[in-house]
Amino acid sequence: MQNSSSVDYGYLRQLVFGLSQNVLDPSRDYLFETRLTRLLRNQGMSRLDELVEHLKARKNPSLERSIAEAMTINETSFFRDGRPFDLLREELLPALIESRRPLRGLRFWSAACSTGQEAYSLAMLLHEHFPALTGWHIRIEGTDICAEVIERAQAGCFHRIEINRGLPARHIVRYFDHAGEDWTVKPEIRKVCNFRQANLCSSPLSFNRSDDRFDVIFLRNVMLYFSQETRKTLLAGIHRVLAPDGMLFLGSTEQPADSSIWTPVIAGGTCYFRPRQPS
Ligand SMILES: C[S@@+](CC[C@H](N)C(=O)[O-])C[C@H]1O[C@@H](n2cnc3c(N)ncnc32)[C@H](O)[C@@H]1O
Repeated sequence: MQNSSSVDYGYLRQLVFGLSQNVLDPSRDYLFETRLTRLLRNQGMSRLDELVEHLKARKNPSLERSIAEAMTINETSFFRDGRPFDLLREELLPALIESRRPLRGLRFWSAACSTGQEAYSLAMLLHEHFPALTGWHIRIEGTDICAEVIERAQAGCFHRIEINRGLPARHIVRYFDHAGEDWTVKPEIRKVCNFRQANLCSSPLSFNRSDDRFDVIFLRNVMLYFSQETRKTLLAGIHRVLAPDGMLFLGSTEQPADSSIWTPVIAGGTCYFRPRQPS
Protein backbone atom coordinates (compact mmCIF):
# COMPACT_ATOMS: atom_id res chain seq x y z
CA MET A 1 0.00 0.00 0.00
CA GLN A 2 1.34 3.40 -0.99
CA ASN A 3 2.15 5.96 1.65
CA SER A 4 0.47 9.02 0.12
CA SER A 5 2.72 11.40 2.09
CA SER A 6 5.66 10.21 -0.05
CA VAL A 7 3.98 11.50 -3.21
CA ASP A 8 5.00 14.97 -4.35
CA TYR A 9 1.46 16.18 -5.12
CA GLY A 10 2.70 19.73 -5.52
CA TYR A 11 4.72 18.56 -8.54
CA LEU A 12 1.64 16.89 -10.06
CA ARG A 13 -0.59 19.92 -9.41
CA GLN A 14 1.99 22.19 -11.02
CA LEU A 15 2.31 19.87 -14.01
CA VAL A 16 -1.48 19.91 -14.55
CA PHE A 17 -1.62 23.68 -14.16
CA GLY A 18 1.22 24.19 -16.64
CA LEU A 19 -0.53 22.16 -19.33
CA SER A 20 -4.25 22.80 -18.88
CA GLN A 21 -4.34 25.78 -16.50
CA ASN A 22 -6.64 23.71 -14.28
CA VAL A 23 -6.10 24.69 -10.66
CA LEU A 24 -6.37 21.65 -8.40
CA ASP A 25 -6.95 22.21 -4.72
CA PRO A 26 -4.63 20.26 -2.37
CA SER A 27 -7.72 19.01 -0.51
CA ARG A 28 -8.47 16.96 -3.63
CA ASP A 29 -5.08 15.32 -4.02
CA TYR A 30 -6.78 11.96 -3.54
CA LEU A 31 -8.14 12.38 -7.06
CA PHE A 32 -4.68 11.70 -8.47
CA GLU A 33 -4.88 8.19 -7.02
CA THR A 34 -8.23 7.38 -8.57
CA ARG A 35 -7.80 9.07 -11.94
CA LEU A 36 -4.29 7.93 -12.69
CA THR A 37 -4.81 4.24 -11.90
CA ARG A 38 -5.17 3.22 -15.55
CA LEU A 39 -2.30 5.41 -16.67
CA LEU A 40 -0.04 3.90 -13.99
CA ARG A 41 -0.98 0.41 -15.09
CA ASN A 42 -0.24 1.28 -18.74
CA GLN A 43 3.19 2.51 -17.64
CA GLY A 44 3.84 -0.75 -15.79
CA MET A 45 3.88 1.12 -12.48
CA SER A 46 1.88 0.53 -9.34
CA ARG A 47 2.55 3.69 -7.32
CA LEU A 48 2.14 7.42 -7.84
CA ASP A 49 5.50 8.28 -6.26
CA GLU A 50 7.18 6.05 -8.88
CA LEU A 51 5.46 8.05 -11.62
CA VAL A 52 6.53 11.38 -10.10
CA GLU A 53 10.15 10.27 -9.70
CA HIS A 54 10.11 8.97 -13.29
CA LEU A 55 8.89 12.35 -14.58
CA LYS A 56 11.37 14.30 -12.50
CA ALA A 57 14.23 12.21 -13.87
CA ARG A 58 13.22 12.42 -17.50
CA LYS A 59 10.96 14.81 -19.41
CA ASN A 60 8.14 12.98 -21.18
CA PRO A 61 5.75 15.48 -22.83
CA SER A 62 3.25 12.90 -24.04
CA LEU A 63 3.00 11.24 -20.62
CA GLU A 64 2.66 14.66 -18.98
CA ARG A 65 -0.17 15.55 -21.38
CA SER A 66 -1.92 12.26 -20.58
CA ILE A 67 -1.73 13.08 -16.86
CA ALA A 68 -3.22 16.55 -17.39
CA GLU A 69 -6.00 15.10 -19.56
CA ALA A 70 -6.78 12.34 -17.07
CA MET A 71 -7.31 14.98 -14.38
CA THR A 72 -10.03 16.86 -16.29
CA ILE A 73 -13.64 16.60 -15.12
CA ASN A 74 -15.74 15.65 -18.15
CA GLU A 75 -19.22 15.77 -16.68
CA THR A 76 -21.82 16.80 -19.29
CA SER A 77 -25.26 15.88 -20.59
CA PHE A 78 -27.67 16.60 -23.44
CA PHE A 79 -29.50 19.96 -23.12
CA ARG A 80 -27.65 20.58 -19.85
CA ASP A 81 -29.22 23.45 -17.81
CA GLY A 82 -31.96 23.60 -20.48
CA ARG A 83 -32.77 27.32 -20.30
CA PRO A 84 -30.10 28.57 -22.71
CA PHE A 85 -31.45 26.15 -25.31
CA ASP A 86 -35.04 27.31 -24.71
CA LEU A 87 -33.99 30.93 -24.99
CA LEU A 88 -32.10 30.28 -28.21
CA ARG A 89 -35.08 28.47 -29.69
CA GLU A 90 -37.74 30.97 -28.66
CA GLU A 91 -36.00 34.30 -29.01
CA LEU A 92 -32.35 34.50 -29.97
CA LEU A 93 -32.13 32.21 -32.99
CA PRO A 94 -35.16 33.61 -34.84
CA ALA A 95 -33.57 37.10 -34.63
CA LEU A 96 -30.10 35.83 -35.50
CA ILE A 97 -31.37 33.86 -38.49
CA GLU A 98 -33.15 36.96 -39.78
CA SER A 99 -29.95 38.99 -39.60
CA ARG A 100 -27.83 36.25 -41.24
CA ARG A 101 -30.26 35.71 -44.10
CA PRO A 102 -28.02 37.46 -46.65
CA LEU A 103 -25.05 35.25 -45.69
CA ARG A 104 -27.01 32.03 -45.17
CA GLY A 105 -24.52 30.80 -42.59
CA LEU A 106 -24.29 30.31 -38.82
CA ARG A 107 -21.35 29.28 -36.66
CA PHE A 108 -21.47 27.86 -33.15
CA TRP A 109 -18.66 26.88 -30.81
CA SER A 110 -19.03 24.45 -27.96
CA ALA A 111 -15.79 25.30 -26.15
CA ALA A 112 -14.74 22.56 -23.69
CA CYS A 113 -17.32 20.27 -25.27
CA SER A 114 -16.35 17.09 -23.43
CA THR A 115 -18.04 14.09 -25.13
CA GLY A 116 -20.10 16.30 -27.45
CA GLN A 117 -23.59 16.33 -25.95
CA GLU A 118 -23.77 20.15 -25.98
CA ALA A 119 -22.88 20.38 -29.68
CA TYR A 120 -25.28 17.60 -30.62
CA SER A 121 -28.04 19.24 -28.56
CA LEU A 122 -27.59 22.43 -30.60
CA ALA A 123 -27.62 20.47 -33.85
CA MET A 124 -30.86 18.69 -32.87
CA LEU A 125 -32.46 21.97 -31.81
CA LEU A 126 -31.61 23.60 -35.15
CA HIS A 127 -32.80 20.61 -37.13
CA GLU A 128 -36.08 20.27 -35.27
CA HIS A 129 -37.13 23.89 -34.99
CA PHE A 130 -35.54 25.70 -37.91
CA PRO A 131 -36.22 23.77 -41.12
CA ALA A 132 -35.74 27.03 -43.02
CA LEU A 133 -31.99 26.57 -42.43
CA THR A 134 -31.88 23.76 -45.00
CA GLY A 135 -29.29 24.79 -47.57
CA TRP A 136 -27.53 27.18 -45.15
CA HIS A 137 -23.92 26.67 -44.15
CA ILE A 138 -24.22 25.58 -40.51
CA ARG A 139 -21.10 24.67 -38.50
CA ILE A 140 -20.96 23.59 -34.89
CA GLU A 141 -17.37 23.31 -33.68
CA GLY A 142 -16.61 21.34 -30.54
CA THR A 143 -13.20 21.53 -28.87
CA ASP A 144 -11.74 20.05 -25.72
CA ILE A 145 -8.26 19.56 -24.31
CA CYS A 146 -8.86 15.89 -23.63
CA ALA A 147 -8.16 13.56 -26.58
CA GLU A 148 -10.26 10.75 -25.16
CA VAL A 149 -13.47 12.78 -24.93
CA ILE A 150 -12.91 14.22 -28.40
CA GLU A 151 -12.68 10.69 -29.81
CA ARG A 152 -15.95 9.86 -28.12
CA ALA A 153 -17.59 13.05 -29.42
CA GLN A 154 -16.42 12.24 -32.95
CA ALA A 155 -17.83 8.72 -32.69
CA GLY A 156 -21.18 10.19 -31.60
CA CYS A 157 -22.00 6.98 -29.77
CA PHE A 158 -23.59 7.17 -26.33
CA HIS A 159 -24.60 4.64 -23.72
CA ARG A 160 -28.26 4.24 -22.83
CA ILE A 161 -27.62 5.95 -19.47
CA GLU A 162 -26.16 9.06 -21.18
CA ILE A 163 -29.07 9.16 -23.61
CA ASN A 164 -31.55 9.04 -20.76
CA ARG A 165 -30.02 12.15 -19.16
CA GLY A 166 -31.77 15.20 -20.60
CA LEU A 167 -32.92 13.97 -24.00
CA PRO A 168 -36.64 14.11 -24.77
CA ALA A 169 -37.95 10.75 -26.01
CA ARG A 170 -38.86 12.23 -29.40
CA HIS A 171 -35.20 13.18 -29.95
CA ILE A 172 -34.02 9.70 -29.05
CA VAL A 173 -36.34 8.16 -31.58
CA ARG A 174 -35.73 10.72 -34.29
CA TYR A 175 -31.99 11.40 -34.07
CA PHE A 176 -30.34 8.15 -32.90
CA ASP A 177 -29.77 4.66 -34.27
CA HIS A 178 -29.27 2.02 -31.65
CA ALA A 179 -27.66 -1.36 -31.24
CA GLY A 180 -28.05 -2.88 -27.78
CA GLU A 181 -27.02 -0.31 -25.17
CA ASP A 182 -25.30 1.97 -27.71
CA TRP A 183 -27.05 4.87 -29.34
CA THR A 184 -25.38 6.60 -32.28
CA VAL A 185 -26.26 10.09 -33.50
CA LYS A 186 -27.71 10.01 -37.02
CA PRO A 187 -25.58 11.35 -39.91
CA GLU A 188 -27.94 14.31 -40.55
CA ILE A 189 -27.02 15.65 -37.08
CA ARG A 190 -23.38 14.59 -37.08
CA LYS A 191 -22.61 16.23 -40.40
CA VAL A 192 -22.93 19.77 -38.98
CA CYS A 193 -20.68 19.01 -35.97
CA ASN A 194 -16.91 18.99 -36.08
CA PHE A 195 -14.82 18.01 -33.07
CA ARG A 196 -11.14 18.48 -32.39
CA GLN A 197 -8.67 18.65 -29.57
CA ALA A 198 -7.65 22.17 -28.54
CA ASN A 199 -6.45 23.87 -25.40
CA LEU A 200 -8.48 26.96 -24.49
CA CYS A 201 -5.45 28.36 -22.72
CA SER A 202 -3.02 28.20 -25.60
CA SER A 203 -2.45 31.52 -27.21
CA PRO A 204 -3.77 32.47 -29.69
CA LEU A 205 -7.06 30.58 -29.48
CA SER A 206 -7.42 27.93 -32.14
CA PHE A 207 -9.90 30.13 -33.98
CA ASN A 208 -8.37 33.52 -34.39
CA ARG A 209 -9.19 34.96 -37.77
CA SER A 210 -11.88 37.57 -38.16
CA ASP A 211 -13.63 35.45 -40.84
CA ASP A 212 -13.77 32.69 -38.22
CA ARG A 213 -16.14 34.66 -36.01
CA PHE A 214 -18.81 32.75 -34.16
CA ASP A 215 -22.44 33.71 -33.77
CA VAL A 216 -22.96 31.76 -30.55
CA ILE A 217 -20.33 30.44 -28.13
CA PHE A 218 -21.00 28.05 -25.28
CA LEU A 219 -18.20 28.17 -22.70
CA ARG A 220 -19.89 26.39 -19.87
CA ASN A 221 -18.65 24.70 -16.73
CA VAL A 222 -14.96 24.98 -17.52
CA MET A 223 -13.87 28.39 -16.24
CA LEU A 224 -14.44 27.24 -12.69
CA TYR A 225 -11.26 25.17 -13.04
CA PHE A 226 -9.18 28.21 -14.08
CA SER A 227 -7.52 30.98 -12.09
CA GLN A 228 -8.90 34.52 -12.28
CA GLU A 229 -5.99 35.54 -14.52
CA THR A 230 -6.57 32.64 -16.93
CA ARG A 231 -10.30 33.45 -17.12
CA LYS A 232 -9.54 37.05 -17.99
CA THR A 233 -7.13 36.14 -20.80
CA LEU A 234 -9.48 33.47 -22.16
CA LEU A 235 -12.50 35.78 -22.20
CA ALA A 236 -10.52 38.48 -24.01
CA GLY A 237 -9.74 35.84 -26.68
CA ILE A 238 -13.37 34.73 -26.80
CA HIS A 239 -14.42 38.36 -27.29
CA ARG A 240 -12.19 38.56 -30.39
CA VAL A 241 -13.73 35.50 -32.06
CA LEU A 242 -17.37 36.30 -31.28
CA ALA A 243 -19.36 38.30 -33.86
CA PRO A 244 -20.22 41.83 -32.64
CA ASP A 245 -23.90 40.81 -32.43
CA GLY A 246 -23.09 37.31 -31.19
CA MET A 247 -23.75 35.81 -27.77
CA LEU A 248 -21.81 33.97 -25.14
CA PHE A 249 -23.28 31.46 -22.71
CA LEU A 250 -21.37 30.62 -19.54
CA GLY A 251 -22.24 27.99 -16.92
CA SER A 252 -25.06 29.00 -14.59
CA THR A 253 -22.64 29.86 -11.76
CA GLU A 254 -19.99 31.54 -13.95
CA GLN A 255 -19.34 35.22 -14.64
CA PRO A 256 -16.96 36.97 -17.06
CA ALA A 257 -13.74 37.94 -15.24
CA ASP A 258 -13.61 41.34 -16.97
CA SER A 259 -17.14 42.72 -17.03
CA SER A 260 -16.02 45.87 -18.90
CA ILE A 261 -16.12 44.06 -22.27
CA TRP A 262 -19.40 42.17 -21.79
CA THR A 263 -23.00 43.20 -21.37
CA PRO A 264 -25.03 40.70 -19.37
CA VAL A 265 -28.54 40.08 -20.66
CA ILE A 266 -31.07 38.43 -18.37
CA ALA A 267 -33.81 36.66 -20.28
CA GLY A 268 -35.76 33.41 -20.21
CA GLY A 269 -34.66 32.62 -16.66
CA THR A 270 -30.99 32.62 -17.65
CA CYS A 271 -28.20 35.05 -18.43
CA TYR A 272 -26.03 35.40 -21.52
CA PHE A 273 -23.43 37.95 -22.59
CA ARG A 274 -23.14 40.29 -25.55
CA PRO A 275 -19.68 41.57 -26.49
CA ARG A 276 -19.32 45.27 -25.78
CA GLN A 277 -17.61 47.10 -28.65
CA PRO A 278 -14.87 49.68 -27.98
CA SER A 279 -16.40 53.17 -28.25
C1 LIG B 1 -17.29 19.82 -16.81
S1 LIG B 1 -16.89 19.61 -18.48
C2 LIG B 1 -18.04 20.72 -19.24
C3 LIG B 1 -18.59 20.18 -20.54
C4 LIG B 1 -19.66 21.08 -21.19
N1 LIG B 1 -19.14 22.37 -21.54
C5 LIG B 1 -20.86 21.22 -20.29
O1 LIG B 1 -21.07 22.28 -19.71
O2 LIG B 1 -21.60 20.25 -20.14
C6 LIG B 1 -15.35 20.53 -18.56
C7 LIG B 1 -14.54 20.21 -19.81
O3 LIG B 1 -13.50 21.20 -19.91
C8 LIG B 1 -12.37 20.57 -20.49
N2 LIG B 1 -11.18 21.40 -20.23
C9 LIG B 1 -10.54 21.61 -19.05
N3 LIG B 1 -9.48 22.41 -19.22
C10 LIG B 1 -9.45 22.74 -20.54
C11 LIG B 1 -8.60 23.54 -21.34
N4 LIG B 1 -7.54 24.18 -20.82
N5 LIG B 1 -8.86 23.64 -22.67
C12 LIG B 1 -9.92 23.00 -23.22
N6 LIG B 1 -10.77 22.22 -22.51
C13 LIG B 1 -10.54 22.09 -21.19
C14 LIG B 1 -12.35 19.21 -19.82
O4 LIG B 1 -11.59 18.27 -20.55
C15 LIG B 1 -13.84 18.87 -19.74
O5 LIG B 1 -14.24 18.05 -20.81
